[in-house]
This record gives sequence, structure tokens and C-alpha cells, in this order.
Amino acid sequence: MADQTSFDPPRGMRDFYPEDMAWRNRVFDAFRAAGAAAGFSPYDACVVESYALLARKAGEEVANQIYMFEDKSGRKLALRPEMTPTLARMVAARQKQLSFPVKWTALAQCFRYERMTKGRKREHYQWNMDIVGEESVLAEAEVIGAACDALRRMGLPDDSYRVRVSSRALLSELLEASGIPPEKHQAVFMALDKRGKIPDAEIEAILRDGGLDGQSAAAALGILAIGSLDDAAAKVSPDSKSVAGLRELFRLAEIAGFADRLVFDISVIRGLSYYTGTVFEAFDTAGEFRAIFGGGRYDSLLTAIGGDPTPAVGLGFGDVVVTELLKARLGGDAAAARKGVAVGFMFPEQRDAAVALARRLRESGECVDLSLHSAKPKQFFARAGAGACAKAVFIGPDDVAAGKAKMKDLETREQTDIPLGGGAL
Ligand code: HAM
Repeated sequence: MADQTSFDPPRGMRDFYPEDMAWRNRVFDAFRAAGAAAGFSPYDACVVESYALLARKAGEEVANQIYMFEDKSGRKLALRPEMTPTLARMVAARQKQLSFPVKWTALAQCFRYERMTKGRKREHYQWNMDIVGEESVLAEAEVIGAACDALRRMGLPDDSYRVRVSSRALLSELLEASGIPPEKHQAVFMALDKRGKIPDAEIEAILRDGGLDGQSAAAALGILAIGSLDDAAAKVSPDSKSVAGLRELFRLAEIAGFADRLVFDISVIRGLSYYTGTVFEAFDTAGEFRAIFGGGRYDSLLTAIGGDPTPAVGLGFGDVVVTELLKARLGGDAAAARKGVAVGFMFPEQRDAAVALARRLRESGECVDLSLHSAKPKQFFARAGAGACAKAVFIGPDDVAAGKAKMKDLETREQTDIPLGGGAL
């Protein structure tokens, strides 16, 4: 402790003061309620994972962002940067017992050594919703629909965001139609995902390093200019499964009630290499913030870690961006909903009456913030007004003598009588 020089947490890590917790609780409550409403079972795992499970191929940004360390026995460990490999490991471990499809949800703390920008911290909480063991595109519709539900529960208007959806399988078909062979597609995905983050000339250079000639590199970049699913469909086989899958997703979204927020966007690729089919990312409509959530289909991850072939789809929804967005759209103190009763007293002689009232209120289910020492009425009400309670009761000598006090609504200023020393509340 002697060399403590700053009260700040380590760079990129977050402290949650009570006003921050009000936001965090609002967001977490919505995650949990939306997960339960969609019939997902909560699961969890330790934030420390084997580095071998998380170690990644080059090209993925997250590969260089893993916090890794050795324990005292020389085991290579890491703080997880995401939950999906852990989920895959847990499912693979019980592959024979589980009855598929499984629908699991977690609220996982994740760590990434990121370059710090708006919406990006080195530690964040990520709500995960995954369906493992299901090929039907209804699985995509269910996870995206649940994320839209969570946003509505947080109070974000539907027109504040859009979920952009595409398909890596479709992109593969388009690349093949441009003469780029399948074995090059993975590298092309990772390069094209950098669009908007680095200049196009640099992306072209990466594509050429990956073995594409100038014409193919230009063709790959050109695909990102496709403006609609119909335009994409016109360039691939009329029997394209990926086009049919996306059309079905839009149709299901219509029935499920979130089609107004779903848009096709060929440029959504995602930075993680394990996605195989549908990919999606949600952004605020004004384009001010980073991605709110993202996910997709990853049908090969279980085999990649040694499990049986199992289709899967899911999403990760961080707490950082959505909290910034909610504050911007709803106001910085919108999360501070008042509730409970502040109980105070004027002189030490009224303290017992205050304690007895607090007990009765708490027994009736109220939250009570009981003053710990006597105060003048002005002091008490100033503190109660600045606090989190919705109502306040202040007990003076006259109230004890009369056997009742006034309960004041701190917003409307309305007052009602409340009996002291017993009786119904
Ligand atoms: P991801 O796109 O890397 O996907 O992260 C998902 C979400 O987590 C992002 O959209 C963002 O909200 C949040 N997030 C990620 N990194 C940070 C950061 N450094 N600071 C703040 N928020 C962050 C995945 O991680 C996939 N595993 C999601 C998934 C689950 N796919 C299938 N199942």
C-alpha cells in the first residue's frame, strides 16, 4: 500500500460507484429478464480460462488482446476475452448427456487489452445468449429477438437502433462467383472486416499478402458495395441456401415483431473467425457509438475444440456501449428511479420511535433508509431529497405525542398520516 500513488483503478478497469450501479442494474435486470422471457437457462464459469482454449489464429484482433499469465505451477492461463470458447468447452464436456438444442445465457465479465476508445474498455460485462444444437434459422430469430427485447426493457426506443445482418456463407458464394477460391475466404473475411477501421489501400495490401491478385482484391472490396439482398441474390445461384436462410430470417422477424429493426448489410462480417453463416451487429441509428451487440452462427467451433459436430448460434451484448447510448438518449440520471422511505428524527428521544417505524415498514416490504443520528428537519429533508428514496418520514416530539407522523412524497410533496407505535401502515 505504501507506494499507492493514485486512487484510479488500473487503466481500462472500472469502479462502479452507486450512481454507476443504478445504470448497471438497469441493464443487467433487462438482460436477465429478456433471457428468462426467451426460455434460456443461466450458466456461468470462472473468468480464468486455459490459454490453450483461447489462443487464436492470426488475423483476429482479439488474439493480441488476451490477458495471459502463468500460475505458480507454470500453467498457461488467461482472463477470458469472451465467453464462446468456454461455452463450447462446457457443452463438449457434456455432449453425451445434454438434450439438444440447449439454450443457455450468461452474464460474463470479459477482459481484452484494447486500445481505449469510446465504448471500449479493457474489462466489460457481456450478456451471452446461445443456442447449441439447432440448424433452423428460427434460432437466429430467437437470439436477435431476445436482444431487441432487452433493449426495449432498458427503455431504448425501437427507432434508436438497427440490427444489421448478413451471412458469411453468402459472402463465400459471392467471393467464389468472383473467382476467389474457398481456401482464401477466411483470410478475406478477416481483411474485409477491417473496412472503415483502416484505409482501403491497406486492406488491399492485406488481401494481396493473403495471395489475391490485384483484380481479385478489388473484386472482394467491390462486393461490399452490394446494396440489398436482392442484388446479392442476383449474383449467386438461384438455389443459394444462404439467401433462402436470410429471407426466412426476415420473414420470421416480421412475425416475431422486430422486422422494423432488421436490415441487410453485406459489410457485416465480424472479427471472430469461428462464424460460418449468419452474422449480425446492432448499431445506434445516429451512428455515434460502437456496436451494441454482435453475434452469428458458428457451426464448426465445437469440432474445432474436439467436440462432435454441432451447429450453434449466439450473441454477445456488452454493457458499456448500451449504457453510453441509454445515457445519451434518456438522460444521465434516468436510471436513478426513486424508491423506499427515508426515516429521520429530530432529537435522541425520538430515535426509538424511528427504529420501531423502520422495522414495521421493512416488515411490510418497504426499503427504509433510517437516519443514524438526530437532525434538524431542514437538514433531514435536504439529504432525503438528494438521496434515492421516494418518500420521507420525519419524527419530532409532537409526532410521538400525537402517535402519528407525516409521510411525504418527495416528488409530489403530498403528505399522508402514518401511525407510530403500531397499527396498519
Ligand atoms: P464481440 O463482437 O467480440 O463478440 O463482442 C460482443 C459485444 O461485446 C460487442 O458488440 C460489445 O458490445 C461488447 N464488447 C466487446 N469488447 C468490448 C470492450 N473491449 N469493451 C466494451 N464492450 C465490448 C463476441 O465476443 C462473441 N463471443 C459473441 C458471441 C456469442 N457470438 C456467439 N455467441
